[in-house]
Amino acid sequence: MFEKILVPLDGSEHAEHALQKAIQLAKEFDGKLTLLHAYTPNLVSLPEEYAIPETTPRMVDIHQEKGAYILEEASKKVDSLGVPFDTLLAPGSPVETIVEASKKGKFDLIVLGARGLSPIKEVFLGSVSHGVATHAQCPVLVVK
Ligand SMILES: Nc1ncnc2c1ncn2[C@@H]1O[C@H](COP(=O)(O)OP(=O)(O)O)[C@@H](O)[C@H]1O
Ligand SMILES: [Mg+2]
Repeated sequence: MFEKILVPLDGSEHAEHALQKAIQLAKEFDGKLTLLHAYTPNLVSLPEEYAIPETTPRMVDIHQEKGAYILEEASKKVDSLGVPFDTLLAPGSPVETIVEASKKGKFDLIVLGARGLSPIKEVFLGSVSHGVATHAQCPVLVVK
């Protein structure tokens, strides 16, 4: 029933809980996880002393790098548990990127956190979880 599971990750504790649930579901349904991070492109040039001669000025996308790190850490966890997975690091607004990826990849389920990194804790749902739950065409599991 839930063989293709999309897991949007932002490095938050809630997303971590979502990943745990997604791992359990993948085991239960003999499924595969796709770990996804959407980032807002943010290209910065490194200070002179860090610049590599061939590529001066060395530009790095700090949000892309951070996203890659988040996916790498999650990958290690999933891999160590023997669950099949792949990763997707995509530029764009989180809601749009997650919803589009879920349609394009014909996912059976999206598992994401109820909240993320924003410091506001009064509301039950974050804007990404709310937007995804509203616009996705497949079932969405929002994990607290
Ligand atoms: N940039 C992102 N890329 C992928 N997933 C994200 C991203 N931002 C948030 N998410 C997912 O959405 C969940 C809810 O986060 P969000 O709605 O942004 O809450 P908050 O408003 O508290 O930051 C996170 O736990 C994570 O699963
Ligand atoms: Mg957020």
